[in-house]
Amino acid sequence: MEIQIFKTKDDLNHTFTEQIKEIISEKERVTVALSGGSTPKSLFDYWAQLPKGEIDWKKVRFFWGDERCVPPSDDESNYKMTKEHLFDLVPVPNENIFRIHGENDPGSEAVRYGKLLTGELETTNGVPSFDILMLGMGDDGHTASIFPHEITLWDSPENCVTATHPVSGQRRVSLSGKVINAAKNVFFLVTGENKADKVKEIIEQPDQAGKKYPAALVQPDSGNLYWFLDHGASKSLRNK
Ligand code: 6PG
Repeated sequence: MEIQIFKTKDDLNHTFTEQIKEIISEKERVTVALSGGSTPKSLFDYWAQLPKGEIDWKKVRFFWGDERCVPPSDDESNYKMTKEHLFDLVPVPNENIFRIHGENDPGSEAVRYGKLLTGELETTNGVPSFDILMLGMGDDGHTASIFPHEITLWDSPENCVTATHPVSGQRRVSLSGKVINAAKNVFFLVTGENKADKVKEIIEQPDQAGKKYPAALVQPDSGNLYWFLDHGASKSLRNK
């Protein structure tokens, strides 16, 4: 596990981008699972203003770690946010975008997407393996769309699961823990002081946290787990 703390979102976005450019340079085709919510917005805005050609978007195939079960035109859609902040601004070929169909029946879509991952990704021990997997973390310790009240979804034998937001009841489709932990490189991008206590517990007491918070179960087999934190999110860490 590697922890980096950044003064500004721009510093975080720059360092994260340099690290993934390195990974992208090593392969002809790179698979990336994007996280949703608000944190990635500033990253996508950063990518959109990069000099033309700095990232060879043709090499990158975009997937999602989770999606809200809403149409792609809905303001809640992770795909819609990504389209507005990234795909409408940089030359990613349409055939490189594999969105989760939030407009579909959740159960059927979890099966469809799970099969798609098997067909599109390299596998590690028979499990679809992303080259780069981005994750956010909620202030309740959820990640992707696996929430504490449904933490057993983490151990699903399926590639994708259906989940329910604990407050809104919104249905979600999410990667399961086995796909998350099969990724070659996992990056937690976590900002905001409201997450500081969970970050501290998960990083400093992972076993205890693993009983309660899905984010604490992110322990990729590759060992390549990177925490990118802003000052707020790292506030409670000792010897930071
Ligand atoms: C989603 C995300 C979710 C998100 C966290 C953090 O669909 O909402 O995938 O896991 O990463 O909730 O969200 P913020 O970045 O908005 O704090």
